Amino acid sequence: MQDQVSICVIGSGYVGLVAAACFAEMGHRVLCVDNDEARVKTLREGGVPIYEDHLPELLARHRGGGVEFTTDLGGAVEASEAIFIAVGTPQGDAGAADLSFVEAVVSEIARHINNYKVIVEKSTVPVYTNEWIQRVLRRHGVDPQNFDVVSNPEFLREGTAVIDFMHPDRIVVGAGTERAANLVRRIYEPLVGGSYYGQPGALPGALSAARPAKLLITSAQSSELIKHASNAFLALKISFINAVANLAEAVDADIEDIAAGLGLDRRIGPGFLHAGLGYGGSCFPKDVAAFHWVAQQRGVNFELLQEVRKINEKQKDIFFNKVLSALWTLPGKRLAALGLAFKGNTDDIRESPAIEIIKRLLEAGAMVAAYDPAAMERAKSVLPPSAKLRYAAGVYEAAKGADAVLILTDWKEFAEIDLVRLNDAVRFPIVIDGRNLYKPQQMLDHGFTYVSVGRPASYQAQQGKPRSGVL
Ligand code: UDX
Repeated sequence: MQDQVSICVIGSGYVGLVAAACFAEMGHRVLCVDNDEARVKTLREGGVPIYEDHLPELLARHRGGGVEFTTDLGGAVEASEAIFIAVGTPQGDAGAADLSFVEAVVSEIARHINNYKVIVEKSTVPVYTNEWIQRVLRRHGVDPQNFDVVSNPEFLREGTAVIDFMHPDRIVVGAGTERAANLVRRIYEPLVGGSYYGQPGALPGALSAARPAKLLITSAQSSELIKHASNAFLALKISFINAVANLAEAVDADIEDIAAGLGLDRRIGPGFLHAGLGYGGSCFPKDVAAFHWVAQQRGVNFELLQEVRKINEKQKDIFFNKVLSALWTLPGKRLAALGLAFKGNTDDIRESPAIEIIKRLLEAGAMVAAYDPAAMERAKSVLPPSAKLRYAAGVYEAAKGADAVLILTDWKEFAEIDLVRLNDAVRFPIVIDGRNLYKPQQMLDHGFTYVSVGRPASYQAQQGKPRSGVL
């Protein structure tokens, strides 16, 4: 018999909505709260406000049954044993995370604690947030016997968040008491015990009944640091490979071969060694800054993180200069920009290198035709269509008459372009690829001048190779 826990998830953004749907999929009873009435209405009526694989399927399966949506935070708190806080923690001044949404939610939770509850921080928060939440609850007069605060960070990647949730590399629980740890353990039991993976209709992934999820219990501070340190380490891997890519370019080596050679060392591993335009998104830039801020506050030297950030910023300058050196001048040049999202398979444009590069190209006088399979609507809010910027219906339409094609996001669709058709569409066959989606020889064979990241550029004879030092 399934041990059902009543759960309240506060926040229906990427993290909250995925967590709510996945807890329902594990068999729990979930109330998902948001103060945005329009969003709650959309969710109740069957809408799915974010682009995420498997989410529509899970919501269709559990909406109105295992998961319900409401604006009534108080009622949801009263009816639940575990309360997950999954509200935004945007970047505030000096890199510190802005925790005002968390504080506001905690103050409201405090008014509705009617018996023992476990409050779980799911949002990415700096170390000692757990302590602060406890302090706020006590200040509001909540009996300390009636709550515990637990840290249970999320490690979800956008686009694959549902599978990441149901098939996690690890579940980290930072709990100060055995009672609280036990409740969170009960919640994840279908994954940790493995019963979920044997269930008919279970989402497939890396884990199975024989190889279930691992759960790690730590102190709250350790759990909070695990989250920040994981993201900072992944960002560091990306900046490291980008720095090596720049060196590879300078000595005519090939970063794809180098990354393969590095990644085969099991101590290093192959993940997050893809050189390109640098990392973006709602997590890495913010978390690297917040982690650095935390270290500074505690008087700990962690300038390494500043270097990670600087290398990441520089990748965009380097790419911009590649466009310049391929085209000489930019005013009036027609560029096809393939990609707006910060990475493939998402409609999220937060901190997207693609958006920043397009902005700079437009400022420099270029005419841009942009296309993205999912992020165009969102992009229009920050880059409205104009005389210089149009949104195209597809790759070949964007490329029509272009002086160069720029690949800015690693969508699968952009790795599978019909190169003959692309060459027919463009004015000049020049591709500047910020995501290394093609092999230089393959592009050369299709008549393109091809410039990518950390690999020697290949030039068509009639295009001419810019002399080094032109810029
Ligand atoms: C990340 C973490 O992976 C996740 O654990 C955390 O919970 C939230 O932040 P996400 O932001 O969705 O997830 O994207 P991710 O797939 O990690 O990529 C982040 C950025 O790094 C993207 O801009 C991506 O293009 C870039 N990246 C990633 C690289 O440039 N090279 C790589 O090898 C990997």
